[in-house]
Amino acid sequence: MAGKGGEKLAIDGGPKAFAGRTGVGQPKVGVEDFLAIAERFQFSPPALERLRAAVSDADLPAGGPHLGRYYGSASPSKGEQFEGLAREVFQVKHAFPCSSGTGALHAAFVAAGVGPGTEVICPALGFAATAMAVVLAGGVPVFCDVDESLHLDPAKLEGCVTPRTVAIAPTHHWGGVTDMAPVLALARRRGLKVVEDCAQAPGATYRGRPVGSIGDLGCFSISCYKIIGGGEGGMVVSNDAGLFERACQLAEGGGLWRNPRFAPPRHPGELFVGTNYRLSELESAINVVQLRKLEGVVSRHRQVSRRICGQLADFAEVTPQKLNDREGVIGYMLRFFPATCELSACIVKALQAEGIGAGTRGSAHDPDWHMARDMFPIVLKPGSTAGGSVWDDPRYRQRGGQVSYAPEQWPVAVDLFGREVSIGFDQWWNDDDCDRVAAGINKVLSAYCTKRAAKGNW
Ligand SMILES: Cc1ncc(COP(=O)(O)O)c(C=O)c1O
Repeated sequence: MAGKGGEKLAIDGGPKAFAGRTGVGQPKVGVEDFLAIAERFQFSPPALERLRAAVSDADLPAGGPHLGRYYGSASPSKGEQFEGLAREVFQVKHAFPCSSGTGALHAAFVAAGVGPGTEVICPALGFAATAMAVVLAGGVPVFCDVDESLHLDPAKLEGCVTPRTVAIAPTHHWGGVTDMAPVLALARRRGLKVVEDCAQAPGATYRGRPVGSIGDLGCFSISCYKIIGGGEGGMVVSNDAGLFERACQLAEGGGLWRNPRFAPPRHPGELFVGTNYRLSELESAINVVQLRKLEGVVSRHRQVSRRICGQLADFAEVTPQKLNDREGVIGYMLRFFPATCELSACIVKALQAEGIGAGTRGSAHDPDWHMARDMFPIVLKPGSTAGGSVWDDPRYRQRGGQVSYAPEQWPVAVDLFGREVSIGFDQWWNDDDCDRVAAGINKVLSAYCTKRAAKGNW
């Protein structure tokens, strides 16, 4: 049929009115963007010039790369590669890359049923991000004291459980591991979920199982501040399909990327409001490479730590940190507790003079958000909006909730945090480096403490 003007319509086989653009476009993400990333890698200006000369927008696909997880030519996407690798490395059925460890924790706590009127037990030593994620989910963190492993003390856990408790969040920190067997036993007995915070210990194992795969959900921070990762990133993992679906629901825009995308709930409770913690393709690309390096990083750290610790003597005034799994810890830090803060200070000064990087805090140390007492955004109980806080939420009050953050409840954490001496180990130390560090530690401890004949329990 012809239009009123007599022209044949395209739908009837006539010529198209708009058969495509003749204007010349520029890629959305082009060579300049690529060079901006290279610049962030701190290539020298001459190297950047060589890169610029070697690549041009004409080398890119039409329109340039999309850099989206769900659109674009790369198949599988970097996000999918990252989560596939994480499933293998952390031995879990499900993994979702998040933009940060805090985002992963928020998603995990929502998945675990944390919300207004509920409580989550966190260790008094760890990092504030865990407790903050509990609050983001609407719950109230309750801190449990630690033991000489500097991790959750299982013997004190039961005393922290209330009718409001829905989850326990053991933090495996500074390359160590929580004693998970009693934590899990208590959780199962009391019907609580276990959310492992593995931000500081990816690659550590407990009784042969990777941390993160032991509880109901595991969370990682894979960022420039941790042993693997560049930039910012995280991961939530689980072996439980239902919990994982809930975590993704929160972390991925409220189920935005299901198939079919915009379908109504396929089963009760499937859809609820979420946010977007999806990891970018650029970060995923870096973290695929980083995660492949994890095994090497962990085994080098273990080799260094075993070689050094194997040479350390026993001293009457020094207690080594208790290890909940000697084979499973990563060992990137040596920690021990001299009998007094004064002794710790002398030992640290002498170690530093020997060229060994050591630190201690002392009893009157600066605030530090690794210790519950100093986690001000939690312990001062502030609200983030005029609407109040989780602590004065009527749903919490009505259930009898009235948590106290008095540090007297965590005497071991307060004491050990001030007294501990920590020495950072370098994965790249060779045998000779390790032997000289071990000799230096023995030399200093022998000068300030009483050496005993027995082999040290390091
Ligand atoms: C134990 C622990 N949990 C969670 C986080 C938060 O991770 P992110 O910085 O990736 O949000 C950190 C970061 O330092 C951490 O140490």
